[in-house]
Amino acid sequence: MPKTLFVCSQCGNDSPKWHGRCPGCGEWNTMVEERLPEPVQGGGGGSSLGRRSAKAAKPVQLAQVEAPALARFETGIGELDRVLGGGIVPGSLVLIGGAPGIGKSTITGGALGNLAAAGRNVLYVSGEESPAQVRLRAERLGEHALRVPIVAETDVETVIATLEAERPDVCVVDSVQTLYAGGMSGAPGSVGQVREVAGRLMRVAKERQIAVILVGHVTKEGALAGPRVLEHLVDCVLQFEGERERTYRTLRALKNRFGSTNEVGVFEMRERGLVEVEDASSRFVEEATRGPGSVVLCAMEGSRPLLVEVQALVAPSELVPPRRVANGVDRNRLALVLAVLSRHGGFGLGTSDVFVSVAGGLRVDEPGADLAIALALASAARGEPLGDGAKPLAAFGEIGLTGELRYVAHADRRLAEAAKFGLQPVITPDGSARTLRRVLKLALDGDGSLADAA
Ligand code: TYD
Ligand code: MG
Repeated sequence: MPKTLFVCSQCGNDSPKWHGRCPGCGEWNTMVEERLPEPVQGGGGGSSLGRRSAKAAKPVQLAQVEAPALARFETGIGELDRVLGGGIVPGSLVLIGGAPGIGKSTITGGALGNLAAAGRNVLYVSGEESPAQVRLRAERLGEHALRVPIVAETDVETVIATLEAERPDVCVVDSVQTLYAGGMSGAPGSVGQVREVAGRLMRVAKERQIAVILVGHVTKEGALAGPRVLEHLVDCVLQFEGERERTYRTLRALKNRFGSTNEVGVFEMRERGLVEVEDASSRFVEEATRGPGSVVLCAMEGSRPLLVEVQALVAPSELVPPRRVANGVDRNRLALVLAVLSRHGGFGLGTSDVFVSVAGGLRVDEPGADLAIALALASAARGEPLGDGAKPLAAFGEIGLTGELRYVAHADRRLAEAAKFGLQPVITPDGSARTLRRVLKLALDGDGSLADAA
């Protein structure tokens, strides 16, 4: 019977017994079960700590290390391949995290279908849904998806034995939280279990060159035991985001040992599966309303420029303090923009409810969004639309605490993307107006002389 130990994930204190509260640091719910290594049979008698049999390794200069170009399996889903850095690397371990219902099973099922159609050996391990349920989804995704072989299994040892027998090129485990490792206490999905399951799968993945895609659920707060504790273990962490009720979804790499973490894929959930949105900018520009409170933000999603519509609504409030609702932008950035608007822009919105959202359910988490948020708020507060009537106004730039506009990265690419859709002029920190006050004046009172601000 293998021995286990409980280790605090905060301070590293260990104990043979589980405690709700770590005796070391006093944190609650941090004790995690860990398996002790098997004792070495006939290990040396104390003097050399059982290290006697190990041979010294020979260091090799990095320049002499052979690094063959990585072969990759293309999934046929362009946006997924791009986020992965060009496809799935054989033998790699990929974690796809996201809220329930976001489309993790849909995208992995579709990817396996395409791989199977391209002649790859694939396997879908379902711990959550019965084969019949998975079949129903596959029917919506088309004939490729129906070719995927499936096992419904929750015992990790059976899964590993199946992998050894089938030797697929790519295997999806949906989800890692439903698998169960014998010899460990704790329910499936608990931190200790998830770590053990992923560790065992990783060993087979590396040994047999099987690429394993682990699906993991994350709650809204990203809190659920699971994905977070696996981040250091896996080669690549992908995060699937978006709101379940909205159509757009983004897929981002949070970690990637084989590519950049700057790539973002945009998808739309349709009746027949996830569809890649390649021309996301043109979509969002077309849909932009041009009414008061609407500004197009030239955002960067990784290395890719993306035009999104920022909308704001300002309404008299009955509440103290009034409402501050941010969708798709950071709450703290909204608070900062509101404070700067009031101190340096002459817009005190202290008695108004304020709503800001990025259309389509997208998220933009970058300081470059400040100026667009500020302009949208000012336009909403005044009830005046911005832009020349035919085209929406486009902007980007960070706002400093003293009301000055600050440079942001990739200005040239943002401008080029805006120009592609005929959005000119664009209000930027490099323009002639260097402060928020000046930009607001030109945009709102400037009798159409916006070109002066740009
Ligand atoms: P799913 O992939 O099961 O989500 P997850 O595995 O992340 O929990 O599917 C998410 C939702 O997408 C589900 O509510 C049904 C919907 N959906 C479509 O709209 N069209 C489709 O073609 C499919 C397969 C699902
Ligand atoms: Mg699922």
